[in-house]
Amino acid sequence: MIDLKPYNTFGVSANAPNLLLADSKEALIEAIKNHPDALILGKGSNILFTKDLEKPVIVISNKGVTTENQENGQKRVTAAAGESWDDFVRHTLSEGLSGLENLSLIPGSVGAAPIQNIGAYGVEQNQFFESCLALDRTTMNWVRFSKEKCLFEYRNSYFKNEGKNRFIIWEVSYLLSSEPTQLNIEYAPIKSYFERHPETQPTPKKIAELVIEIRKSKLPDPNILGNAGSFFKNPVIEEELALNLKKKFTDLPVYPATNGVKISAGWLIEKVGFKGSFTGDAGVHHKQALVLINKGGATGSQIVNLSTQIQTTVYNRFKIRLEPEVTIL
Ligand code: EPU
Repeated sequence: MIDLKPYNTFGVSANAPNLLLADSKEALIEAIKNHPDALILGKGSNILFTKDLEKPVIVISNKGVTTENQENGQKRVTAAAGESWDDFVRHTLSEGLSGLENLSLIPGSVGAAPIQNIGAYGVEQNQFFESCLALDRTTMNWVRFSKEKCLFEYRNSYFKNEGKNRFIIWEVSYLLSSEPTQLNIEYAPIKSYFERHPETQPTPKKIAELVIEIRKSKLPDPNILGNAGSFFKNPVIEEELALNLKKKFTDLPVYPATNGVKISAGWLIEKVGFKGSFTGDAGVHHKQALVLINKGGATGSQIVNLSTQIQTTVYNRFKIRLEPEVTIL
């Protein structure tokens, strides 16, 4: 038996019968042959264990980043799924490449990034994603997924739906630019920084620095306080409902979205009074109500109970259903 506490950023305990590290294709294939139904884990930054597992865990641990020149000044950067996402972003910045700077400091592994199409501060990874290589565990064949095949959406992809539990992402390629032509400074605090400092040119490194500062100022560091980032997705609601809400609550943050209007789940949770509240060691972060935290001794079930309470309260008040972003097992 192995306790998965060090393998999930919520820092909750859950036992698994066995844990294997896959640091090469051969090791992964061997591990899957022996344990076809194993749970695949990256850095455990978007998962909440609520009970012991009956199956073994395989941690994707391959390493390495390669860069290839492309036409039109672009570079294809391919990273092993087991690399830390933030180390990878830093690496691309140190090579003078732009694209991923807004995605600095996101916890988790490279292999997990396409699964929930990570995003922050106006950028989603699919904007720079080229393809990924994955092992199909039903056929044991290696399959290359183009961007189109991944069906990326807001915090969603093929790998969270039809491809769930079937494909194991092994490496991911991004197309990045050597010219900082695609900078995104639309997120209000970033935009206002450059307005207040007209002498400072927006560069990928400067944007990364600001993003890191913003994240550190409002998101808890999982190495210090257990959490998995945003616990819920920002809900997309009908335009009419959003307009009615906006009339009543002029401070409600709304964003354009396909099939409706995206509104802020953190705002809804704050409005119903959960921000900064605790039940035992399970609580809601005092600076960002979308982030549930484990002060140390919470169990996965206690965190899920709190999340259910939040969902019910938000639904009763606003008739809006919050959907977890985190995978609950
Ligand atoms: N807000 C509140 N109260 C709160 C939190 C937010 O009123 O407690 C309101 C504020 O008005 C704020 C607005 O909501 O201006 C938006 O908040 P924020 O910019 O912090 O972003 P978010 O919508 O809460 C999303 C992502 C984050 C990402 C940020 C920044 C989701 C589920 N979350 O959060 O991603 O870092 O935008 O782009 O889309 C994650 O996925 O784990 C994550 C942290």
